[in-house]
Amino acid sequence: MKKHIAILPGDGIGPEVTKQAKKVLQTVAEKFGHTFTFKEGLIGAVAIDATGNPYPDETHKLCLESDAILFGAIGDPKYDNDPSAKMRPEQGLLKMRKELGLYANVRPIFTFNKLLTASPLKKEIIKGTDFIVIRELIGGIYFGKRGRNKTKTSAFDTSEYFKHEITRIANFALALAQKRKKKLTVVDKANVLETSRLWRETIQEMEKDFTDVAVNYMFVDNAAMQIIKHPSAFDVIVTENMFGDILTDEASVITGSLGMLPSASIGEKTAIYEPIHGSYPKAAGQNTANPIGTILSTAMMLEYSFGLKKESAAIYNAVEKVLNQGFGTKDVNPQTILGTKELGEKISENLSSK
Ligand code: IPM
Ligand code: MG
Repeated sequence: MKKHIAILPGDGIGPEVTKQAKKVLQTVAEKFGHTFTFKEGLIGAVAIDATGNPYPDETHKLCLESDAILFGAIGDPKYDNDPSAKMRPEQGLLKMRKELGLYANVRPIFTFNKLLTASPLKKEIIKGTDFIVIRELIGGIYFGKRGRNKTKTSAFDTSEYFKHEITRIANFALALAQKRKKKLTVVDKANVLETSRLWRETIQEMEKDFTDVAVNYMFVDNAAMQIIKHPSAFDVIVTENMFGDILTDEASVITGSLGMLPSASIGEKTAIYEPIHGSYPKAAGQNTANPIGTILSTAMMLEYSFGLKKESAAIYNAVEKVLNQGFGTKDVNPQTILGTKELGEKISENLSSK
């Protein structure tokens, strides 16, 4: 199989973790007889510095011409603490998601046996956790009208959802639930928000076409508690943009580290694969960041975009094996602490040796 992959390293630890993930992809290509070509593009603060634009046209063109996109991270503290900044790195990511029509953000939450004690949560609670959060990615408060009044003493952000946006993401989640344990939890705040009531109404109507899926509805505050209290009770969760953002950071605690979790953003055009962690500027350039979230994102790419299930499973297995041997970056508190590069290399070596 021949595929063109765009790599957008982005900011902070992005370049370090994508470098290791690229190596894993190259190892898969060699081992299984595929040809993957790679082209890098600019996004985020590095793109603002170089071109004045967080998502330059050239990067958009590269994304459209590629078969899949591997993305690192975005964000720089020089913008975080400047509320008056006109241009922000995050706008690049949001623009890319929107222009590529990537409405479905798939965030699997699972545990590795070896890391059960790396989580601050009790082992008995998190054991067996295996659910997927489907986060709506290009609607809601992230993309609604926002602004200030004339005297700048009040501000507003608005959340709007169209029925077709809800149907589109719910279809995706229901179809996924059908392939899994046939259980879907819709997370909303329908006791307060009108958008949530439209979500509920719309998905309730859709239930008749998915009679094999048990759908239940949960308020987001309760869901935040249940995810920590009884995570193995969930199978597929579907929710709006901002709730999904918050709940997945929370859920990453189950895995032991935010650095472990991969994600896929799927929709109309080229799909993006990225770790769910941010740019972690403090760790940039230190060779300490956990590359596993990004490496597992390549496993999702192989499965979701290229249909390469065997290759994808080989990456998961290599990661698991290396963890079982006691290796890891310092965030997962392993027996042997490795650097970003050394852990990436261990995983690659493991892949090629089998
Ligand atoms: C994520 C991130 C982004 C988001 C930020 C960087 C804009 O937190 O992918 O979860 O909020 O979507
Ligand atoms: Mg987030």
